[in-house]
Amino acid sequence: MAKRIALVTGGTGGIGSAICKKLVDDGYQVIAGYYSGGKHEKAQKWQEQMAAEGYDIPVAFGNITEWESCEACIEGIKRDFGTIDVLVNNGGITRDSTLRKMNQEQWVDVINTDLTSVFYMTRMVVNDMLANGYGRIINISSVNGEKGQFGQANYSAAKAGMHGFTKAVAQEVASKGVTVNTISPGYIATPMIMEVPEEIREGIRKNIPVGRFGKPEDIARVVSFLAHEDASFITGTNVSANGGQYMH
Ligand code: CAA
Repeated sequence: MAKRIALVTGGTGGIGSAICKKLVDDGYQVIAGYYSGGKHEKAQKWQEQMAAEGYDIPVAFGNITEWESCEACIEGIKRDFGTIDVLVNNGGITRDSTLRKMNQEQWVDVINTDLTSVFYMTRMVVNDMLANGYGRIINISSVNGEKGQFGQANYSAAKAGMHGFTKAVAQEVASKGVTVNTISPGYIATPMIMEVPEEIREGIRKNIPVGRFGKPEDIARVVSFLAHEDASFITGTNVSANGGQYMH
């Protein structure tokens, strides 16, 4: 049987790289979506790094905040590889600020990148999945979408919205072999977390019962589980992977 095709948005980032590698190990043809502000050489370097580690992962450019760019990205992948079986909506940003200081740009950028993009990308692949009678859509949300976070009204709103989207779409596509699920990672040791001032970061770490930040592989393992053919009875759910930081 031909390899199933998996697209990971934000695939060249901290969590994204681990997801890509895990899905390659699982036997998928993986494509890493990237934007990087149009800095293509950054993605090329990432691809070379992956190749050096024994992973052959093509990259696909796309600005997930723009409908036409998403369309071009998906069309290119369909032309080169075929229709997408597994979509991991992993691309996202933070623009942390308390609400009293937050400007319109910080709000709009986060809502567009972290939430509207999930609609765009899912919309671009869902009809092929329905026609094929198979698909896995996995949305990478956040513990901060579950519990809220001081300084993240924009991010918490977007990440919580992502799970509402998951639950609505899961109902629409369930009868056609397509599952839609959310994963809510806690604080994972990636460059995004390193942007949080050290004192605040250390305070957060102390409140994680397992006593450490997560590893990108901790999240990749959950993606691998939900992407599997045998996970067909799991849909519209949210899997929290946060070291016990938030239990509900
Ligand atoms: N709870 C309550 N009060 C707090 C607080 C908290 N957690 N943190 C700070 N404060 C208080 C301060 O003591 C200060 O009080 P006073 O005014 O009485 O002195 C006040 O809030 C500071 O408010 P400011 O608006 O001036 O805040 P700031 O500009 O100094 O910093 C911030 C705001 C940049 C958002 C900073 O708090 C911060 O970086 N917080 C961390 C946010 C965070 O966790 N981001 C996660 C990024 S990683 C990620 O998002 C991935 C993922 O999915 C987990």
